[in-house]
Amino acid sequence: MSLTNQEKQALVDLANTARQRAYAPYSNYPVGSSLRTKTGRIYTGVNVENAAYPQTMCAERVAMFKAVSEGEKEFEVITVVTDNGGSPCGGCRQVMAEFGLNTTVILADGNGKIVKETTVRELLPDAFTPEHLSKQVNAATAPRRRK
Ligand code: THU
Repeated sequence: MSLTNQEKQALVDLANTARQRAYAPYSNYPVGSSLRTKTGRIYTGVNVENAAYPQTMCAERVAMFKAVSEGEKEFEVITVVTDNGGSPCGGCRQVMAEFGLNTTVILADGNGKIVKETTVRELLPDAFTPEHLSKQVNAATAPRRRK
């Protein structure tokens, strides 16, 4: 299902509003994210930093984890809004890839202006996905079936 420009902008605006709730006292780089699932449900996320820096969590991962924790694993579109229209980090690309390479990814700046529309597949070429792992696991550890 494709999104109208209005739907895209509404998701970006939602992420930009959420961005005001980012907890980013160390980087001063607030990030907001929103996603729409294939069932039409919408989740938002913000980056949540920590005095122990590595414990920081990115905005888009918060949005995805909120969705998954509610039983939603198929994402139609994910938006990421930052001051300068920045691109998702590698870790977030990997988490996106877990749930589908065809998900649309929309990047927007602090004015809510869409600066890029792409897909997870484009953002993470040759992604390592659950399919790779299940083949390995099946070949290596699956019990042999009796004929
Ligand atoms: N950040 C995100 O929330 N998403 C990304 O994809 C890039 C980085 C956050 C993490 C940290 O709180 C701040 O931006 C600066 O790296």
